[in-house]
Amino acid sequence: MATHTISTAGPNIRTKLPGPNAQKILAGDAKYISPSYTRSYPLVVKRGRGVVIEDVDGNEFLDFSSGIAVVSTGHCHPEVVAAIQKQSAELIHMSGTDFYYESLVTLAERLAKTAPMSGPVRVYYGNSGTEAVEAALKLARYHTKRQGIIAFYGAFHGRTMGALSLTASKPQQRRRFAPLVPGVAHVPYPYVYRRPDGMTESQYSQGCARFIEDRVFKTIMAPEECAAIFIEPIQGEGGYVPAPREFLQELRKICDRHGILLVADEVQSGSGRTGKWWAIQHSEVEPDIITIAKGIASGMPLSVMMARANIMDWVPGSHASTFGGNPVCIAAALATMDVLEREGIRNAEVVGNHILQRLRTWVEKHPMVGDVRGMGLMIGVEIVKDKKTKAMTRDDRDRITQLAFERGVVLLGAGESSIRIAPPLIVTQEQASIAMDVLEECIGIVEKEQK
Ligand SMILES: Cc1ncc(COP(=O)(O)O)c(C=O)c1O
Repeated sequence: MATHTISTAGPNIRTKLPGPNAQKILAGDAKYISPSYTRSYPLVVKRGRGVVIEDVDGNEFLDFSSGIAVVSTGHCHPEVVAAIQKQSAELIHMSGTDFYYESLVTLAERLAKTAPMSGPVRVYYGNSGTEAVEAALKLARYHTKRQGIIAFYGAFHGRTMGALSLTASKPQQRRRFAPLVPGVAHVPYPYVYRRPDGMTESQYSQGCARFIEDRVFKTIMAPEECAAIFIEPIQGEGGYVPAPREFLQELRKICDRHGILLVADEVQSGSGRTGKWWAIQHSEVEPDIITIAKGIASGMPLSVMMARANIMDWVPGSHASTFGGNPVCIAAALATMDVLEREGIRNAEVVGNHILQRLRTWVEKHPMVGDVRGMGLMIGVEIVKDKKTKAMTRDDRDRITQLAFERGVVLLGAGESSIRIAPPLIVTQEQASIAMDVLEECIGIVEKEQK
């Protein structure tokens, strides 16, 4: 067992960043690693415990990104580590696609109890978010025998070819990869902050929903050829933008009218992050399929596509994955669910509300904070050049996250101009206050630079 301890309070930056050890690794990375990765700043991590990570030069940071919303129970939660250790000494792999083992069923039963849809469900296991989406896309076509798919502008569903065809977040994610999977139509997502002037939130939500029946179904896709509508109940990479409850309810009605499946992509918004198991549960809308990954196994690669049992009617051989539902990942997921059920989900709600309350005052107080939104510990802060025009400013947003990094708080951007606040669900009120003090200081610095 490691004897090294790292502090649990605030950040502790001892070197210039990147420090000397980090610089060596960065040089190797620049030489050997795929340049397709998007790194925001040179953070080279060595170890993590809870919300704190330590870099290779001994600097300590508060991780308010959770490795992109993944380490839901914090870094290396002792119960998760113990479960991984125990399982890896017993059985690492057998391939659930060809053989059986008990934990495949145990986790499926456990997930079924949290399902946002009523009635029996079945579970398909994959290794990453994009694989869960891929599986949902294939199942939707298989079950409905229809081809058309609707997804939203601003959506991020992954980068494999099927999921990428649904993704509509940034041009570099698609550039030079065409042709993608045909049959996908993108429609406006109800980005409430950016609705047209003079429109109420409700009118805007209704309008975005009506676009599907009034425009898409009357021009490019017959409704009886539409298999599924894919939606992130809170857009993640698109900027931490929640869909209004009324909009999700309208989508459900559209799906019911035309026999279309509603797929909730909960890869980022799920696993308790919003204060409920699944973000869609805040709207009381039942999806037909949900996709799960990221936070469900605290950093071990596991994804899940859960569907109403009657929908999962594909035959043996139609879809599978060698590693999907790996026993070690499942052990991590079961331990993760214990921690989240016992404390994480409730804590996400309590600390999330505390953060939201404070950040909402920034909209009045800070000229560059255009909008604050979210639920639980999935909070977006939109940075704007000008409150009236709402002009986006990627450069200023990036400068703010860079300054926060230099002060020991790890924050990532989302969308064109927003900052995502997504700490582990076990974050304390004190850690949240420290991190938000740093963020406010950094916003203040950039605001001064504008004058
Ligand atoms: C909503 C959503 N779906 C799918 C994905 C793809 O997940 P992965 O990167 O694990 O393939 C992501 C990743 O950020 C996501 O946020």
